[in-house]
Amino acid sequence: MSVVYNPYVFETQHNPYPVYARLRDEEPVYYNPDLDFWALSRYADVLAAHKDPVTFDNGHGVTLEGGEAGQDLLITKDPPVHDWHRKVVSRVFTPRRVNGLEPFMRAECARLLDPYVGSSGFDVVEQFSIQLPLAVIGELLGIPESQRQEVHHLADRLFTRGDDGTVSEDAATAMLEMGLLLYGIVVDRRDHLGDDVISLLISSEVTDDDGNGWYLTDEELATRVLELAFAGHETVARLVANGVVALSWYPDQRAELAADPGLLPNAVEEMLRWDAPSHYQGRWTTTDVTLHDTTIPADSRVVLITGAANHDERVYADPELFDLHRKIDTTVSFGYGVHFCLGASLARLETRVAFDEFLHRFPEYGIDESGVERMRSSNVRGLAKLPITLP
Ligand code: HEM
Repeated sequence: MSVVYNPYVFETQHNPYPVYARLRDEEPVYYNPDLDFWALSRYADVLAAHKDPVTFDNGHGVTLEGGEAGQDLLITKDPPVHDWHRKVVSRVFTPRRVNGLEPFMRAECARLLDPYVGSSGFDVVEQFSIQLPLAVIGELLGIPESQRQEVHHLADRLFTRGDDGTVSEDAATAMLEMGLLLYGIVVDRRDHLGDDVISLLISSEVTDDDGNGWYLTDEELATRVLELAFAGHETVARLVANGVVALSWYPDQRAELAADPGLLPNAVEEMLRWDAPSHYQGRWTTTDVTLHDTTIPADSRVVLITGAANHDERVYADPELFDLHRKIDTTVSFGYGVHFCLGASLARLETRVAFDEFLHRFPEYGIDESGVERMRSSNVRGLAKLPITLP
């Protein structure tokens, strides 16, 4: 029987890895006629597509449904316009600014986790993995504390898709509400500039290749902030929870990590590989592409399945196993090339700190399987609820 890959089907979202193995082996250039999309699943093919943004463009959106096409986001811009705008945002994500957040991250971990020391358990997603990145991105961007929960609830509503991938009316409303909320913050910030990213974006000039410069309008600033707020909190939240699951499946490695925080950087890379939170990247072909004797016509939706590439045995030995000592020389977990994740170093630091602080307090825990819930999303892979039990 030929393989069927439909990222909207809940069983596939629950455990996509057997389908991915078949895609890589049997149909590395897969076509789904019902949903009219193509999928690349081998690491080498995914990487090559990332390296060729002219043939595989982002302008038609980066999800299967492509709903973000035409929105004023970095991720949906193609070079050269993309590069002019990306330069401005990269300028404010300096290593100094990112590393300077570590004390704030540790204080937030203490605030979030200390109340559960000595307790019988808590929900890792709701009480910790969502809250930490929300506070961090809020602090970095300059979203007032009183509005951070609202950002989170709106983001949750926004990402939810129906079984057929359609954007619900509620998700569309949430998008509008989010835009308005952030627009309000931007307008207010113009009168109270500070040292936060919103203030820096307000006062940064965008310049094109001919040296012409201009400032972003309030609407443009609001969408830039929206993109960063989203990207900066949903993915880290899911990565941390996916990592908590991984370590519960491998208690020996959990004990090793708790005893030696020096292993954390590599463990985070393995968490990103083992269960990638940003699970596929959508593209659009601008010309015919022939790969493995199959031609993907121009103007086709293609998904680059990061989660499948990360489990490609052609690159990673025993890919289904979690191994915190695994040597990872190459990764597409944060994308690659012109759209490489702007927040990768922030995400890595945040996840290291999260596990350092978490395992320091809770070196042993179990998972209450009856309360685990997976979020419904075709491209963000992670849990909505992860209750843990403490000894
Ligand atoms: C574990 C956490 C994260 C993961 C797995 C992740 C993953 C990714 C991936 C795969 C891409 C490339 C998308 C594509 O090529 O279509 C990307 C782009 C991006 N990420 Fe992240 N990300 C994470 C955290 C963050 C954080 C913390 C921020 C910001 C604070 C951020 C901001 C962005 C932005 C702005 C882009 C678009 C860059 C561009 O188009 O030039 N991400 N991310």
